[in-house]
Amino acid sequence: MPDTRAAATALATGERTFIRPFRGEDADEFTASARESRHLHRPWLFPPDQPDAYAAYAARLADDRDRHGFLVCATFDGRIAGFINVNNIVMGAMRGGALGYGVFAHAAGRGLMSEGLGLVMGQVFGPLGLHRLEACIQPTNTASIALVRRAGFRLEGFSPDFLFIDGAWRDHERWAITSDMVPAGTS
Ligand SMILES: CC(C)(COP(=O)(O)OP(=O)(O)OC[C@H]1O[C@@H](n2cnc3c(N)ncnc32)[C@H](O)[C@@H]1OP(=O)(O)O)[C@@H](O)C(=O)NCCC(=O)NCCS
Repeated sequence: MPDTRAAATALATGERTFIRPFRGEDADEFTASARESRHLHRPWLFPPDQPDAYAAYAARLADDRDRHGFLVCATFDGRIAGFINVNNIVMGAMRGGALGYGVFAHAAGRGLMSEGLGLVMGQVFGPLGLHRLEACIQPTNTASIALVRRAGFRLEGFSPDFLFIDGAWRDHERWAITSDMVPAGTS
């Protein structure tokens, strides 16, 4: 049964998904899905999987001016398919942000995150007014590289020991897209 109150907060809608802000009342659904998806997320990602951690995470996304969080939901039933965050937003001469994302196991491999990322890019290059969006990805994370490649990102470079993840400094590829590269109609 679609959650009509949640759907009413949609920021953008596609054929199979819509994106909306994180809400406090999503804690149980989000954290249950995160626990069911640990095998898929690790060792790349460690989203909150307990309600108190979710509350702090959602509050930071709502309060901080340098990040925005989007839940990707299936239009069919309103269920949360995954999430896409834009972190480290810097305005001024840069107008850039960095992506973080994860799909939940029940929605993986169906193209829902690809559609959701297109909707988020519409927000990033539309209302948020950014010029550049980057995704820093460990070279062996093929599913993540496939997602951004499909969205039109280009490989800009390689940074050794770039981020501290899962107990060690990890090499990352830096993928990015600038507003001039975005297909017409996305923003
Ligand atoms: C990266 C991640 C979000 C990608 O999720 P996903 O569900 O695979 O992404 P998509 O929505 O693009 O789905 C792609 C798959 O759907 C298929 N698909 C089906 N219909 C599709 C459609 N209409 N459009 C696009 N793809 C479609 C694609 O063929 C692809 O399948 P394949 O993997 O067998 O080639 C997911 O793997 C994940 O959460 N990984 C762990 C966390 C992580 O690495 N985060 C990023 C750290 S940098």
